[in-house]
Amino acid sequence: MKLENKVAVITGGGSGMGRASALLFAAEGAKVAVVDLDERSAAETASEINAAGGQAAAIRADVSKEKDAENMIAAAEKRFGTPTIIFNNAGIEGESAYIAKMTEDAFDRVIAINLRGVFLGMKYVLPGMIKAGGGAIVNQASIAGMVAVRGGVAYCAAKAGVIAMTRVAALEYARYNIRVNCICPGGIETAMAKRIRKGAAPDPKAVSRISVLNRMGQPEEIAKMALFLASDDASFATGAPFVVDGGWTIS
Ligand SMILES: NC(=O)c1ccc[n+]([C@@H]2O[C@H](COP(=O)([O-])OP(=O)(O)OC[C@H]3O[C@@H](n4cnc5c(N)ncnc54)[C@H](O)[C@@H]3O)[C@@H](O)[C@H]2O)c1
Repeated sequence: MKLENKVAVITGGGSGMGRASALLFAAEGAKVAVVDLDERSAAETASEINAAGGQAAAIRADVSKEKDAENMIAAAEKRFGTPTIIFNNAGIEGESAYIAKMTEDAFDRVIAINLRGVFLGMKYVLPGMIKAGGGAIVNQASIAGMVAVRGGVAYCAAKAGVIAMTRVAALEYARYNIRVNCICPGGIETAMAKRIRKGAAPDPKAVSRISVLNRMGQPEEIAKMALFLASDDASFATGAPFVVDGGWTIS
């Protein structure tokens, strides 16, 4: 098993890629703190892991709030020991609006959760990792941090910011044996993708524009990349954005 006896925190673990990653990390031997704003969905993920013989605990936190971020790490530590893995995955799509129509509140909300949330997750997990002698941080960015998406000024800025913070963190903490990487998924079929489509089925034309493989990605395909980056398999990888986008950005 790739994560035997490791303690992992996964934010946004109640749904989508966070949930798939929690299940996979637990199957690989990690004790998983499943963090989500939605307590019920976090509890469902944790129950599924525990029922399958793994170890998980549900923790409610809003990653955009400093006190919550501090508490989620403390709660994980109290339950399982010092976390040496974190997947800062929680995020929202926010409102889609062109710049002149984007409200300040809508902009700030996306930045608070998708950018500050990742910063706070790193800030509070790092001291324990340093004491423990090392760790692996995986941040959830997006292809939207690399290419422009109409209506996505805040989302694209936040995700580009996650890529930048990942590089800074990798540079600052390499000497403590801490690796920091991020994932840039393309279009992944999750609750978020369904919300963006307002519940409609994927439009084949739209899908073919965002994937040369002609399909949406599945959350499990991102979980596998998160597992790779969290594990010793990625021992020489740090500070990098890992693109898993079905070929979105090659054309
Ligand atoms: N779905 C995609 O196509 C796609 C592509 C690239 C990147 N992403 C990113 O991947 C991450 C996961 O997205 P998903 O598609 O699995 O979405 P999702 O909506 O299925 O899951 C996101 C989870 O995060 C939780 N969450 C939201 N705000 C939170 C907060 N303030 N504190 C704690 N938890 C919070 C939600 O309750 C939910 O359980 C996000 O950061 C998203 O921006 C998604």
